[in-house]
Amino acid sequence: MPAKCYSLQHMPIKIIAIANQKDGTAKTTTTAAIAVLLSRGGVSVHMVDMDPQASLTRAFGLTDSTDRLYNALRTGESISVGDSRVLW
Ligand SMILES: Nc1ncnc2c1ncn2[C@@H]1O[C@H](COP(=O)(O)OP(=O)(O)OP(=O)(O)O)[C@@H](O)[C@H]1O
Ligand SMILES: [Mg+2]
Repeated sequence: MPAKCYSLQHMPIKIIAIANQKDGTAKTTTTAAIAVLLSRGGVSVHMVDMDPQASLTRAFGLTDSTDRLYNALRTGESISVGDSRVLW
């Protein structure tokens, strides 16, 4: 179920987490498809790839930021918001 959350402009935003303990169950494919379809429908989408495999990151042609968020969560080291990329 999407969590209720608010952006900095106090606009309601929805968080959709795709999770399944079993591998190869189309989590990444589903995430990418939902993101692209929502975006084409005019919704602003922010994808967060927390998987150290970084398949979602690579699916969108980004290769230089693999496992940075995963490592930051593991070690407590900081990462910059500037690591986000505008894709479309
Ligand atoms: N609807 C589908 N029909 C057929 N194949 C699919 C479908 N959705 C995904 N696949 C294929 O299944 C494989 C696993 O998909 P995906 O990488 O999205 O799974 P995942 O759950 O993210 O895997 P992992 O646990 O390794 O992160 C990929 O090769 C993908 O192309
Ligand atoms: Mg995956």
